[in-house]
Amino acid sequence: MKRALEKREIPRIGAAVTFLGFGALEIGRDWGLGDGRERQKPDDRQAEKVLHAVLDAGINLIDTASAYHRSEERIVKFLSSRRHEFILATKCGEHSKEPDTYYDFSYRAVKESIDRSLKQLQTDVIDIMQIHFGPDPERVIDEGETLAAMKDAQREGKIRYLGASIDGELATRLIESGEFDVMQMGYNLLDQTNEKNIALCREKGIGVFIRSGLAAGLLSARVLPHLNEQFKHKKKVLALLELVGGNGDQLTALALQFLYRNPGISSILVGSKRPERIGQNIALLQQEISDHLLEKALEIVND
Ligand SMILES: NC(=O)c1ccc[n+]([C@@H]2O[C@H](COP(=O)([O-])OP(=O)(O)OC[C@H]3O[C@@H](n4cnc5c(N)ncnc54)[C@H](OP(=O)(O)O)[C@@H]3O)[C@@H](O)[C@H]2O)c1
Repeated sequence: MKRALEKREIPRIGAAVTFLGFGALEIGRDWGLGDGRERQKPDDRQAEKVLHAVLDAGINLIDTASAYHRSEERIVKFLSSRRHEFILATKCGEHSKEPDTYYDFSYRAVKESIDRSLKQLQTDVIDIMQIHFGPDPERVIDEGETLAAMKDAQREGKIRYLGASIDGELATRLIESGEFDVMQMGYNLLDQTNEKNIALCREKGIGVFIRSGLAAGLLSARVLPHLNEQFKHKKKVLALLELVGGNGDQLTALALQFLYRNPGISSILVGSKRPERIGQNIALLQQEISDHLLEKALEIVND
């Protein structure tokens, strides 16, 4: 069995997700490293190819959000006949107003957003609805309107499971609240802040979806044209690249293997606007990375 397609059980939802999931931000909204062209979302034809490549490969988890502009619409447009093949996670609280987004976490806005997602996704029930936290997550948690709206939607049968996309101490608070079935957190070789949160979720049977597993492309060949620019973690990225002989794909293999070895991670939501990335990431994850190489990488990043 390919590592990427290994099914990891989420006790709170009574289902298993493939270790490699798909982040559908990149197929709906300009995103990622670099300038305009590098960040540009794909056209319909290309987005269709990416989405079919995801399911053809056997990936069974797609993460989207109402704030990802064309993403939800494209998922239903191209995958409606294959809806039974994947678990769909979306988000509420950040809203799309192309080309921008805005935040509204009030009860009314969240209820409306959930109804809009149901309509957009042409479905009666959404598998997982996550809070799409923005600039002041503590206030949103304290006010409680978003969670109240999500729980009412769950009672009305519109949502199966609840999730939150958040990091650090506030993530710990939400994990301990017992209200959430899935947590989406940032985690990668360069930023291991959520390490304890991942372990805590495992203890409690809560699913862990990882965003930014490739540090939004910094841990991949996408970084190579940017090595003369300034960016966060540059010194560490350069040292990791040196460790893998300057090969961007090997940097990705290392980053993926680091995530794979963490049993608390249910799935990594790797995003891409290119269909060929899906097979490439499955193959990179299959590569044998020695304990020695990974230890050297950890020495670099934890220095
Ligand atoms: N607040 C939130 O909840 C939030 C925020 C951010 C992201 N997310 C979720 O997480 C997903 C991933 O987002 P991310 O951008 O943070 O993380 P990421 O998965 O760390 O990086 C994605 C980037 O890596 C590139 N990439 C993927 N595979 C590659 C490969 N083999 N070689 C070279 N480049 C590769 C992609 O570029 P190409 O398009 O060129 O392949 C893409 O721009 C999103 O789609 C979304 O579902 C959630």
